[in-house]
Amino acid sequence: TDVHPAWLPPEAFRAIGSRHCLVVGAAGLIDTVVAEVERACAEHGGSVRRKAEGPPPSLVLALVPAVGDGGPAELDAALADLETAAGGPLGAEGYALARHGEVTVLLADQPAGLLYGLFHLTRLGETAFGAPYAAQPYRPAMRRRMLDHWDNVDVHPVMGQVERGYAGGSIFWQAGQPRRDRGRVRAYARLLAAVGINAVTVNNVNVHATEARLLTERLDDVAELADEFRPYGIRVHLSVTFAAPVVLAGLPTADPLDDAVRAWWAETTRAVYARIPDFGGYVVKADSEGQPGPFSYGRDHADGANLLADALAPHGGVVHWRAFVYNHRQDWRDRTTDRARAAFDHFAPLDGRFRDNVIVQVKHGPMDFQTREPVSPVITAMPGTRMAVEFQVTQEYTGQQRHVCYLAPWWSEVLRFGWGDDGDTVAGVAAGGGGLVAVSNVGDDPFWTGHPLAQANLYAFGRLAWDPRLRPAELLDEWIELTFHPDTSADPDLLRRTLHEIMDDSWRTYERYTAPLGVGFMVRPGLHYGPDVDGYEYSRWGTYHFADRDGVGVDRSRATGTGFTGQYPRPWSRVYESPETCPDEVLLFFHHVPYEHVLHSGRTVIQHIYDTHFDGVTEVEAACLRWKSLVGLVDAAVHARVTERLDEQLRCAREWRDQINAYFHRKSGVPDAHGRPLH
Ligand code: GCU
Repeated sequence: TDVHPAWLPPEAFRAIGSRHCLVVGAAGLIDTVVAEVERACAEHGGSVRRKAEGPPPSLVLALVPAVGDGGPAELDAALADLETAAGGPLGAEGYALARHGEVTVLLADQPAGLLYGLFHLTRLGETAFGAPYAAQPYRPAMRRRMLDHWDNVDVHPVMGQVERGYAGGSIFWQAGQPRRDRGRVRAYARLLAAVGINAVTVNNVNVHATEARLLTERLDDVAELADEFRPYGIRVHLSVTFAAPVVLAGLPTADPLDDAVRAWWAETTRAVYARIPDFGGYVVKADSEGQPGPFSYGRDHADGANLLADALAPHGGVVHWRAFVYNHRQDWRDRTTDRARAAFDHFAPLDGRFRDNVIVQVKHGPMDFQTREPVSPVITAMPGTRMAVEFQVTQEYTGQQRHVCYLAPWWSEVLRFGWGDDGDTVAGVAAGGGGLVAVSNVGDDPFWTGHPLAQANLYAFGRLAWDPRLRPAELLDEWIELTFHPDTSADPDLLRRTLHEIMDDSWRTYERYTAPLGVGFMVRPGLHYGPDVDGYEYSRWGTYHFADRDGVGVDRSRATGTGFTGQYPRPWSRVYESPETCPDEVLLFFHHVPYEHVLHSGRTVIQHIYDTHFDGVTEVEAACLRWKSLVGLVDAAVHARVTERLDEQLRCAREWRDQINAYFHRKSGVPDAHGRPLH
């Protein structure tokens, strides 16, 4: 298992490992915490003990309920100021950090909190051991912070080992069998815990024949993975097929209201918990892109979700029921059907009917993880339902881990999006409900993510799920310090600055050279990589841009279009309704406008298209040069891999620029104001 250390190289543990550490408490995951501290101390010369007697410690890690008499005075001081600062208990995963005199104190109510606090110390480094500070509590904003693996057990004839995977094979499965690379899975669990992830789904939402059996006869394979994740506080979840009673047990129906079906799910779920007592629950993609679901039996999604929820409830499990339901056999000639509307139309009327342990999992945008979309109105439409918001760390539509595309700025925008004066933010809805979920970008690649810089996306997703207020640039700082430890390089400032220059704005750069102004798609069908402006224009997937000689974009207004804008509460229903108030970046998502339409930026749509496509490529050219300047400052293998990816990104960005510009020039006949060649 020779894998890249990512954000947990030995250097990240120097500050911890050079201390004399005292661990107070013994329960559950504490063994993991002790093992981590021991590993750090073995590397960096510190020591670990679990009894108060002995020389004074410089780092104390204590479970609050286990603290007795006779501990160091600094521990008492930290406990005292925690009482004034905490605002309630630290909870199952929270922790507090304090420094009194020469001692840094980490406190938690539960061992998982100590684990998260320990990783917080890796981010702080020596800062945690400098000037004294009073106890500061940290608690996760979201209770569940989950990663979904779209990994198949069998190699799927079209989708391969990992559906939408851009980092090699699966770390769990290989050609129909478990990989059993325990070291790699354990290392992965550790990386995830370090960014706060506490739930993982180990198979694809599209559940094929072999994968369906993970629920029953192949449950041991899942249990083995759960054993690797457990020490890092991560629960395992399973994607299941709604047709399981039929395909696994030969029942004549999977009707959610059928007694035999209900009994089968109850019994099957009982067996799962008997084998994996801390099993997290089920993830279901039903009546979506060909997957079976309750519609076949004339039932709705509340009936379907509640069936599984009832089976899981006695064991404390949850069902993540995906809202990604739309007509994937649309006739492109039919202008009345709008895929963007579908999730809301199906789910909003069901609000209030779902059990408490149902989490409706909705993609953050109404379409499908495009480079730019508005926020999905479903997120605020179901106040009586626990909602989880789904992101995509795997870069299906954002360069497939061949292009640098740091997605935290995009996610941060979405999480901060507010639902009007009385409304919550997207982050607030998720925090009060089902938390955040993302599709993982990890595979068996030696750098985990194919593109070494794509590690930053996984890092940032976990951190944002813990605290959605964190700023993307700060998160990048954290990731750079941990991963590249610049201070050990010959030119720390150049390294830091250059990585920021390449990554900070890379999502917007990607947006500039691909589909313009929120219209989306324009990618190669099936593959979703590289330009194909009309690739999806006459297909069944409901993904159209409607470009003609006069204009481009989808009219989703209430006045003249599909009425999608009416799914938003105020002020957004009004803001999006008119091209005059609609933000430029999503104009073509909501409106069909003439090429000469003037944007808020002052430019026409057509000139915007030309300009951004030239700019996007120029920015990639600059990134290539900048990366060259880091030779010798980063690991040679990382440097070589990123160089190879940047070469491809540049080639592909030019392809995008030329095809998009040529296409719109041919359609519109409008020349570039600056006379550049449009081909
Ligand atoms: C996209 C993606 C599919 C995936 C689907 C989903 O459409 O291309 O591979 O299965 O999303 O989220 O279910």
